[in-house]
Amino acid sequence: MVVLRILALLLPLPLHAQPGAADAVARGEALYALHCLRCHGPTATEGLSGDIRALDIATITGAVRSGPGMMPLVPLTDAEIADLRRYLVSIDRP
Ligand code: HEC
Repeated sequence: MVVLRILALLLPLPLHAQPGAADAVARGEALYALHCLRCHGPTATEGLSGDIRALDIATITGAVRSGPGMMPLVPLTDAEIADLRRYLVSIDRP
């Protein structure tokens, strides 16, 4: 366990990261892979909706909870949608 703690301290963190922010992005990435990736693609720019990376939280929440057009409704919590958005805005821009 001590070894794991030391390893965790040595992992490089992005300079702009706040404590906990990397965890939120990782949770968001897992949710995205599970629920969104197959339609919106690895860069979140594919499919009918186009680029969804920079949309505000209200737009994302609305889409996820209502399932517009051919998109299915995905019953995620507010916290999950917040993590999802942190991941979306973290995806590298072209
Ligand atoms: C089965 C395919 C599918 C899945 C799975 C899916 N989407 Fe979509 N999504 C779409 C389609 C198609 C649209 C365009 C809907 C329309 O307006 O006709 C869309 C639209 C959106 C929009 C609205 C874009 C806008 O400009 O208003 C957002 C945001 C979005 N999706 C996010 C997500 C997120 C987040 C997930 C995962 C929780 C997800 N989608 C899962 C197919 C999908």
